[in-house]
Amino acid sequence: MIFYFSGTGNSEFAAKELSQHINDGNIINITECVRENKYSFTLENNEKIGFVFLVFYDGLPIIVADFIKKLEIKTTPETFVWAVITAGANMGGSAYALKMSLSARWIFLSAAYSLTMPDNYIIMYNPCEKEHAKAKIKNAKIKLEELANKIKAKEKTEIESSLLGQTKYDIMQKAYNFMRGTKKFFADENCVACGKCAAVCPIGCIEMKNGKPYWNEKKCVHCTACINRCPVNALQYGKKTKKRNRYNIEITG
Ligand SMILES: Cc1cc2nc3c(=O)[nH]c(=O)nc-3n(C[C@H](O)[C@H](O)[C@H](O)COP(=O)(O)O)c2cc1C
Repeated sequence: MIFYFSGTGNSEFAAKELSQHINDGNIINITECVRENKYSFTLENNEKIGFVFLVFYDGLPIIVADFIKKLEIKTTPETFVWAVITAGANMGGSAYALKMSLSARWIFLSAAYSLTMPDNYIIMYNPCEKEHAKAKIKNAKIKLEELANKIKAKEKTEIESSLLGQTKYDIMQKAYNFMRGTKKFFADENCVACGKCAAVCPIGCIEMKNGKPYWNEKKCVHCTACINRCPVNALQYGKKTKKRNRYNIEITG
């Protein structure tokens, strides 16, 4: 069983590659579970549980953290629970955050691996351009095969947190919470009212009104799916994003 969350496609790509390599076709999109209010799952005998998602401010995307809080799944001491966390740089404290969230549900994380993928956080910096992204995906494909072998062999990893790491994590989570506002999102004059932004928003916080998207929550996940997946690059966040690249896995071809 593989749970995944993805904004711009990297983690979905990783989850699907892993699903093929480890021969686990039970692949579950967290976004759909949240939309359908589905939090209860049953494991087959000896089935492993995997989590694939992206690191957010060194921690978990809020949608993943909230999903785990409600997750009901019966494990045994032998259940191998693994995670592959995609990141522009590295997974930071997110493995520890995942371990703590899961243990509150009596699910015990056995292994967590970081996977470097193209950067997508357009709100903070310029996302990866096409050729660089292609090269990163090529490397990731090779790494995913290696990780699949480790998962198949049930190789455990250390998931520790130092006091310094924990302090940094706490600060980063405060920053994430502060940054998750939607006030600065808007559609510019290039908007063609196609509604794609509303369709891809994992929490359904975008509504089309009078031919323009409108953000109806004060805070969102900040996954950047809306802005990075807009087919005409019409979505902006404040003044800086106009000149920045857009990234989503489809542009890598
Ligand atoms: C809100 C936000 C925060 C992020 N924080 C980090 C981070 O702390 N460290 C890092 O290496 N990458 C960070 N990234 C980059 C993404 O983790 C990375 O591009 C990821 O592979 C995107 O996955 P997706 O395509 O499945 O959405 C962040 C991206 C977003 C949108």
